[in-house]
Amino acid sequence: MFNKAIYASTLLSAFAVAAPAPQVPGYTDADFPDVSVTEATGAPATTFGPDSQINAILTTPGSAPPRRSSVLTGATSHGPFSGTATTTGAEQAPTTLGTAIPPLPPNPTATYYNPNGKLQDPAPIPYQPNGGAGTNGTEPRYMVNSDFDYESITLGLYQEWIELDLFNNGLAVFSEDDFLEAGLTAEDRSYIAFMAQQESGHATLLTNMLGESAPPQCTYDYPFRTVREFIDFNQKLTRWGESGVWGFLAHLDSREVGNLLSQSIATEARQQMSFRQMLGLHPMPVWFETGIPQSWQWTYLAPYISSCPENTTRLAWQNFPALHVANNPNPNRFSPNDTAAWEYVGNRTSDPARSDIPADESCVNVNTTGYSCGPAIARNRSEPLTFPGRQVNLTWDAPGQAVGPNNSYVTSTAAKLPQFVAWVSQLNLTYTPLVTTGNNSGYTYQPAGEVYEGDPAVNGTTFIALTDEDVFLTPFNLSMINPHVVALGLYQAG
Ligand SMILES: *[C@@H]1O[C@H](CO)[C@@H](O)[C@H](O)[C@H]1NC(C)=O
Ligand SMILES: *[C@@H]1O[C@H](CO)[C@@H](O)[C@H](O)[C@H]1NC(C)=O
Ligand SMILES: *[C@@H]1O[C@H](CO)[C@@H](O)[C@H](O)[C@H]1NC(C)=O
Ligand SMILES: *[C@@H]1O[C@H](CO)[C@@H](O)[C@H](O)[C@H]1NC(C)=O
Ligand SMILES: *[C@@H]1O[C@H](CO)[C@@H](O)[C@H](O)[C@H]1NC(C)=O
Ligand SMILES: *[C@@H]1O[C@H](CO)[C@@H](O)[C@H](O)[C@H]1NC(C)=O
Ligand SMILES: *[C@@H]1O[C@H](CO)[C@@H](O)[C@H](O)[C@H]1NC(C)=O
Ligand SMILES: *[C@@H]1O[C@H](CO)[C@@H](O)[C@H](O)[C@H]1NC(C)=O
Ligand SMILES: *[C@@H]1O[C@H](CO)[C@@H](O)[C@H](O)[C@H]1NC(C)=O
Ligand SMILES: *[C@@H]1O[C@H](CO)[C@@H](O)[C@H](O)[C@H]1NC(C)=O
Ligand SMILES: *[C@@H]1O[C@H](CO)[C@@H](O)[C@H](O)[C@H]1NC(C)=O
Ligand SMILES: *[C@@H]1O[C@H](CO)[C@@H](O)[C@H](O)[C@H]1NC(C)=O
Repeated sequence: MFNKAIYASTLLSAFAVAAPAPQVPGYTDADFPDVSVTEATGAPATTFGPDSQINAILTTPGSAPPRRSSVLTGATSHGPFSGTATTTGAEQAPTTLGTAIPPLPPNPTATYYNPNGKLQDPAPIPYQPNGGAGTNGTEPRYMVNSDFDYESITLGLYQEWIELDLFNNGLAVFSEDDFLEAGLTAEDRSYIAFMAQQESGHATLLTNMLGESAPPQCTYDYPFRTVREFIDFNQKLTRWGESGVWGFLAHLDSREVGNLLSQSIATEARQQMSFRQMLGLHPMPVWFETGIPQSWQWTYLAPYISSCPENTTRLAWQNFPALHVANNPNPNRFSPNDTAAWEYVGNRTSDPARSDIPADESCVNVNTTGYSCGPAIARNRSEPLTFPGRQVNLTWDAPGQAVGPNNSYVTSTAAKLPQFVAWVSQLNLTYTPLVTTGNNSGYTYQPAGEVYEGDPAVNGTTFIALTDEDVFLTPFNLSMINPHVVALGLYQAG
């Protein structure tokens, strides 16, 4: 019943049996050095202590700066917003200079090339090669340094706040037994609680880099009803949270802010992977994690924020109309092909797949390798969630809908008629033709392209957009896709 127990016993037996070489086909001369180690046998420990006493001194944690928010924010309310916004629309600059960024030739000064492995320029001091930004002794300033930085970090803070509430919320609404039924133990609950603590630290860091106008925590409206659905939602939410940061990190004006933000997003990446493992998905079925533009992250996030306190700093990013995938696979099924159309809890683009499917169609408590999707370090799926060439049925919303905190933002698009589906995954942007079947519906097929040979580009939780053109873009100029985006959705490829 409980997958933890199964996993533990397999691990123990794996240690006990040493398989004969070769264990990796084609990898020869792998002989172990001529030492012989005999693993201890016998009964494992059942009593623990007293331990040896070792040299130590008494320490105290010392004084750390306070966090902006405690981990538990007291009484919370959740659910949809039912009021009237006092203001609407995205934050706007006093002046806006154009409608599209014209492409330019490469930066004329970016010409460095090293043909011989030798240092080309005088070194400032021994062991420090010439170059680098922020390496000439300038004192670091850990503050946002432009409107671009400010809006990016403010978006990041909106994300950290929902995660802080979300992780606690799942622990609060589901019992230990509910978690056990999903194969997650009391230790896993502590781990999720620890992730919530990480968020209060991240929110403090981002607040400090913004200053006094940094937004506070808001009120949220979650889509899940069960532990599996909670985990699935977390897996999706942290996916766009992480990818949103990868999208803007290298573009920040403040390298100092980029430095600290990298150090928090590395943690978020681990959270995303852990939630995949808790859902029995392959932990990281890709070689590269993708980046998306800020307006994409905001589009995915906004529908789950019901209201924010008066005077909360507003965001300048765009909210695109929603792109719905009618036939995303259900990761709770051992046979993802059998997923019914619209097998979601709701119709927001990141809503989790329904976990209340018949027991004999579920993979949650299955023990068979290749078919189980109980929590594990890694899982093989004999029947993949999706595959190249799979038909993907889509519908999309018209612009002009109220979304986000207090329903105070409005979805918009600057694009013409949709013609392509853009798949943003790993290092790649791939377009497939859209076949329209109605004013707001159509289909396409999952592409088969690879990043490098052996690494299919589309896998994991993948970002898809409906576009009017197939503009050639690469990771560092991806945001130039925005004027071409008709609608934005999420595809559960693996
Ligand atoms: C040091 O580098 C910074 C950019 O990293 C630059 O703005 C500044 O002018 C440099 N200072 C000197 C004295 O070269
Ligand atoms: C995605 O990754 C999983 C796990 O490695 C694999 O089973 C599946 O075939 C992959 N999908 C594609 C399209 O390559
Ligand atoms: C949003 O709703 C909250 C709660 O009703 C209210 O305090 C706040 O002022 C509203 N904000 C906007 C921008 O309407
Ligand atoms: C919101 O801002 C207005 C104008 O600055 C101010 O009068 C009001 O007190 C603020 N409300 C809150 C709750 O801070
Ligand atoms: C997708 O749409 C096609 C018609 O275009 C239909 O035949 C197919 O059954 C649909 N698939 C799903 C899973 O809804
Ligand atoms: C799922 O559908 C694809 C396409 O029709 C098919 O090739 C594949 O065999 C199906 N998977 C299983 C396990 O039947
Ligand atoms: C989502 O939208 C589709 C198509 O409009 C509809 O068939 C389905 O019932 C909706 N699902 C929910 C949970 O509202
Ligand atoms: C899975 O394995 C556990 C422990 O080995 C066992 O108790 C349980 O009945 C098995 N479940 C199924 C569906 O076979
Ligand atoms: C897991 O999948 C890989 C390929 O994706 C395959 O090589 C391996 O044999 C599978 N392992 C098990 C235990 O099924
Ligand atoms: C599609 O849009 C056109 C123009 O707005 C409208 O006349 C037509 O009825 C729509 N078709 C459907 C199937 O909604
Ligand atoms: C994916 O991106 C890599 C790296 O930029 C590129 O070499 C490759 O051709 C791309 N693959 C496809 C299918 O576009
Ligand atoms: C984006 O960058 C690529 C080079 O990586 C370039 O070929 C392409 O033209 C650029 N796209 C636009 C719209 O500037």
